[in-house]
Amino acid sequence: MEERLPQHIAVIMDGNGRWAKERGLPRSEGHLAGVDAVRALVRECRRKGIAYVTVYAFSKENWQRPETEVNFLFELFLRFIRQELPDLMKEDIRLAFIGDKKDLPFTVRQALDYALKKTAANRSMVFTLAISYSGREEILEAARRAIAAGVSPEQLDETCFRRFLYAPDMPDPDLVVRTSGEERLSNFLLFQSAYAEFYFSPVLWPDFGPDELKKALDSYAGRKRRFGRTSEQIHRQLATEGKGYE
Ligand code: IPE
Ligand code: IPE
Ligand code: MG
Repeated sequence: MEERLPQHIAVIMDGNGRWAKERGLPRSEGHLAGVDAVRALVRECRRKGIAYVTVYAFSKENWQRPETEVNFLFELFLRFIRQELPDLMKEDIRLAFIGDKKDLPFTVRQALDYALKKTAANRSMVFTLAISYSGREEILEAARRAIAAGVSPEQLDETCFRRFLYAPDMPDPDLVVRTSGEERLSNFLLFQSAYAEFYFSPVLWPDFGPDELKKALDSYAGRKRRFGRTSEQIHRQLATEGKGYE
């Protein structure tokens, strides 16, 4: 039952540390295993025809972690961006970024900018990395940009405001998945998740493979999204669009 696919799936990849701990390994091993899971997720979503995949790789708040862990993660991001580039090209996937770019170490920013440019014309899927990302900061930054651009209070409606977000052309996530049993947003896509469906998996991120993704998508396919309206209204709208309902 996967007929109703989300157009955009956003994933809060959590549980790398616990995955490592369970095995008596250092946290870094959990992050390494987590990278394999990201690669598999992107491949599987591309295969299924999901147009947008966004992964939360590092929050603004994650800067508070021990320096050794932060350094390890940024080494990992650097390697990941460089290593994935040929596959992204081969699979026609555009890389995108949301977050505070000025926080990134120079080498990471350089590799990222190169990959963003190189994949800019790819069309099969958009894969967005959220690094040094904070939903509140994104909203504040959008407000600052709007003010700086001279937008008047009367002009500032939702459509106008969205133009100042990190990725103005990215549709809102239809489905937000969080692994490891935690059930919170941790400052992820606050503005954009207003009408997202949520799926919380007990599985730790490195173990979140295609079977777990299928469970999330099956759950999504069974949801009824109403956006504040009644089921009857939704029914009528889908009927006029020739899509039927249920
Ligand atoms: C998610 O795993 C990865 C990042 C936040 C970078 P964690 O590192 O948060 O793993 P846990 O939550 O400690 O198990
Ligand atoms: C959220 O995970 C951020 C990422 C997955 C990158 P955290 O592990 O940092 O979240 P909290 O601290 O448990 O809320
Ligand atoms: Mg965590």
